[in-house]
Amino acid sequence: MKLRWFGHACFLIENGKRVIIDPFLTGNPMAPLKPNEVEVDAVLVTHGHGDHLGDAVEIAKNNDCPVVAIHELSRILAEKGVEAVGMNIGGTAVVSNIRVTMVKAFHSADYEDERGIISAGDPAGFVVEMDGKRVYHCGDTDVFLDMGLIGELYRPDVMLVPIGGWYTMGIKEAVKAVELVKPRYAIPMHYNTFPVIETDPKEFKKQVEEKIGNVEVIILRPGETLEF
Ligand code: NI
Ligand code: MN
Repeated sequence: MKLRWFGHACFLIENGKRVIIDPFLTGNPMAPLKPNEVEVDAVLVTHGHGDHLGDAVEIAKNNDCPVVAIHELSRILAEKGVEAVGMNIGGTAVVSNIRVTMVKAFHSADYEDERGIISAGDPAGFVVEMDGKRVYHCGDTDVFLDMGLIGELYRPDVMLVPIGGWYTMGIKEAVKAVELVKPRYAIPMHYNTFPVIETDPKEFKKQVEEKIGNVEVIILRPGETLEF
């Protein structure tokens, strides 16, 4: 499986099929490519905030592929003329032959367009499974004890963890989150995109690897790929 980071919370996961999560590329100073360069079979969106929904509609239209989101957000996206697949927390959907489980995230969620701010359902995380390999994208969240259940039920190989603080958990909470989930690899995300979420991923790596056994922290540069 190949996992490529496009900065912020945006990852491309590839294992035969290709899926992009939270495609915030336009306006993302770390993004190494443009939305029209993305080729995927599905788009996943954790919640309606602009730094996650990003270019989802454009990418789905370009690739003629579905967008997966929580029910309420999926209805908003369907109005924009894309094939929107609505699901909800705890459910597993199979989209373009990719197994997607939606899990809880502790955050807020709305959607903003020319009509103003619209309620867009709850925020979420995803566990994506392709060919027996699993990736847990936490979405925007604080740590919560039930992350232990996510680890136990889905046994993710890789955990994508926000560490930037301010809008999500910071390093202290993120280290605890990794301890609860116990993935093989943890990849920090949602940091250094903007000044208020500046943090040092090496400090996260140091603390995880000191406190928790059998977890390797991989610090990716935007555009870089982990193959496992
Ligand atoms: Ni958010
Ligand atoms: Mn965010």
